[in-house]
Amino acid sequence: MAHIEPYRRLSLNKEILMGSRRTLIAGNWKMNGSRHSLSVLAEIARPTNDLPPHIEVVLFPPATLLAQTATLAKKTASKLGGQDCSSNSAGAFTGELSAAMLNDFRATYGLLGHSEGRTRHGESDDLVRQKSIQALDAGMIAVICIGETRDEKEAGRTFDVLADQLAHSVPKFSSADRIVIAYEPMWAIGTGTTPSVEEIEGAHAHLRDCLTFEWGANAGLISILYGGSVSPHNAMEILGLPSVDGLLIGGASLNPAKSAAICSNAAALHMGAGA
Ligand code: 13P
Repeated sequence: MAHIEPYRRLSLNKEILMGSRRTLIAGNWKMNGSRHSLSVLAEIARPTNDLPPHIEVVLFPPATLLAQTATLAKKTASKLGGQDCSSNSAGAFTGELSAAMLNDFRATYGLLGHSEGRTRHGESDDLVRQKSIQALDAGMIAVICIGETRDEKEAGRTFDVLADQLAHSVPKFSSADRIVIAYEPMWAIGTGTTPSVEEIEGAHAHLRDCLTFEWGANAGLISILYGGSVSPHNAMEILGLPSVDGLLIGGASLNPAKSAAICSNAAALHMGAGA
């Protein structure tokens, strides 16, 4: 970890560079959890009370736990998000949930275009954009996921793939402060393998350039999160990178001890940066 210090020094200026954009620690519980696991869920939400106010914790439970998690989130500083939403607003769409329905459960964030939806259900960039529009129209913040496959990485196509996904998945002409990008390399999800910090920093800086090209100064309001095998061992290093505005955590977000450790890493880093 000899390379962490320069990055941490750079991160001291992050608050200034970021302006008013969000720092997020988001937990995507995927298809996990039951009503009986609520005591564990309560543990997961507890550390959020200790975080500085400019860091938002967002919980993305499965739809079946939205109501209980909303109650939980109300007692803590955490926010609620819905995993996915329909690309339609209402009607004959069996099995789908509209963004307005999620918002009705006090979900203020929507997670769209996750690689599991893209690969398992063949979601295209166009569909992800339609879903994102629905989330924004319902007054939510759209967290839009993008990321390259291992083959694309090995072919040296990461930057092109990211630029393409960004250009076609993110709705244009929307409020930049309600858009969040989650960079999740597909090969890093659930594998215990992460890109090097240089690769993460490079990808995020590239995304920031692409956003600036498209959105001009407003790009500064768009947070870019990293996701893929985030753990208490790497969270501080990744979050300390100058172009990383937060984390999207899968497996570790279901473990109270790991969640607490990641949240205290974030708090320590941000308090240090502000000092
Ligand atoms: P893991 O943290 O389990 O790799 O999952 C990442 C993810 O897919 C979050 O959306």
